[in-house]
Amino acid sequence: MHSLTFSNMSKAYGGVPALADVTLHLAGGRVHALMGENGAGKSTLIKLIAGVVRADSLTVIKDGQTLPLTNAQDAQDAGFRFIHQELNIVPQVSVAENILLGRALPRRFGVAVDWADLRAQARAALKFLGATHIDVRALAGDLPAGDKMMMKIAAALVAAQGTPADLYVFDEPTAALTGEESDMLFAVIERLRAGGAAVLYVSHRMDEVLRICDDVTVLRDGARVSTKPVADTSKAEIIQAMTGRDVKDAYPPRSSAMGDTIARVENVQTRDLHDLTFDIKAGEVLGVSGLAEAGQSRLLRLFMGLNRVQSGRAEFDGAPLPNSPAQAWARGVAYIPRERRADSLCLNMAIRSNIVLPHLGRYGLRAQKRRERRDAVDMGQKVRLKSNGPEQPVGQLSGGNQQKVVFARALLGNPKLLLLDEPTRGVDVGAKYDIYLLVRELSAQGCAVILTSTDLPEILGMCDRVLVLQDGRQAHLLDRAALSGSGDLLTRFYSAEQGGQ
Ligand SMILES: Nc1ncnc2c1ncn2[C@@H]1O[C@H](COP(=O)(O)OP(=O)(O)OP(=O)(O)O)[C@@H](O)[C@H]1O
Ligand SMILES: [Mg+2]
Repeated sequence: MHSLTFSNMSKAYGGVPALADVTLHLAGGRVHALMGENGAGKSTLIKLIAGVVRADSLTVIKDGQTLPLTNAQDAQDAGFRFIHQELNIVPQVSVAENILLGRALPRRFGVAVDWADLRAQARAALKFLGATHIDVRALAGDLPAGDKMMMKIAAALVAAQGTPADLYVFDEPTAALTGEESDMLFAVIERLRAGGAAVLYVSHRMDEVLRICDDVTVLRDGARVSTKPVADTSKAEIIQAMTGRDVKDAYPPRSSAMGDTIARVENVQTRDLHDLTFDIKAGEVLGVSGLAEAGQSRLLRLFMGLNRVQSGRAEFDGAPLPNSPAQAWARGVAYIPRERRADSLCLNMAIRSNIVLPHLGRYGLRAQKRRERRDAVDMGQKVRLKSNGPEQPVGQLSGGNQQKVVFARALLGNPKLLLLDEPTRGVDVGAKYDIYLLVRELSAQGCAVILTSTDLPEILGMCDRVLVLQDGRQAHLLDRAALSGSGDLLTRFYSAEQGGQ
């Protein structure tokens, strides 16, 4: 079994330390969790050992020998493989090409690319992952998020052929996966561990860390707070180490009454949704649930004017549904899409500009920038954004903090209807609880909320009613009594569905 030590890891950006003198010991056959709040330095640590960001200091010792590590090739040669937080895929080419990206492509007679061989190798890698349903000839950009992740993992495995890999690093791999896909991934990690590789695993999901990891290191503000075997610690202790405070891993109760109906949908059919009939009241939190891609995002997009009503009746705030996103924002509908980075942020623009983007109509010409700044700072504080100020480009923020910018944008301008698509994905425990509190606060102000989540406890903890979708069709509309009642319909629905697959 190999032993790996990364010591004195430091990195500062413009004089601000992102990682300060951190040391990490990893061992073959063990899965090591790396935890910490958004912006704690996890991805920075990973980028240093991947050689993609230049370290201010870093020493790598493998089995007693010091290794050079100044670029990505060094990391490859050392046997390190990475699945980064931002999935760098090439959407316009096939899955097979993405999987073999960066390797010498198989050639026939030394000239033409041997497509059959290419596809066979890609298929073999996907088979190892248990992801045989992915067509290697499909365009990578067309895959659902979970399949994109599987494709990236397959690429890391393929890169590992030839040179043996001793370390696999996963940066929040399950953030975009469904429960089923996560289980598939855990089985793969188990296989890698059994094969003697060391695994470094970043996740905000406490339960999965406790389930699959052997050791856990916690970072806070770029420094290492603790390292312990998972068996010798607890959820509460990890949260305390991460946040320096006691944070509840729970759901705040509803404290206000609901108001009048604000949106109503009757027998609505769109190109890809059917049989929708429900209403939502001011202050209500309506959950939308179902298996992956059952239509949850499409349902939210209906209220953004991005999915047209073909038949049936639908109204919001006394008028037909908005017919464009601009109109939706102007009428008080705020939206947090699932693919936040890709769908909603301008990475090279300032935090301020990103937050005020859909609200520009609110600002006159006078003192516009000053008022924008004030709003951006206010909203940033509300969501506990960690940044160097409102003018910092969003692309420089940690993954979780980028998401908070999207949140801040949605909260600006007192929405009447807030659409949340997987709002707590990739968000740390502290921020997660803050988001729940914000939802409660908005409810109390009369804002209706529609929330999708693949996290069943989150749905049960936050929602007043739950609409269950099945292949784009409304299958159930469950009220609180049905949710908390003895039968617990939703849980049964989930297990029946998943058991049946
Ligand atoms: N290119 C950059 N320029 C300036 N600052 C940066 C850059 N990349 C990261 N940082 C800063 O370094 C700090 C650590 O960020 P990092 O991405 O490592 O956090 P993280 O622990 O991965 O958080 P998350 O859970 O949100 O992904 C943050 O304060 C971030 O703003
Ligand atoms: Mg990160």
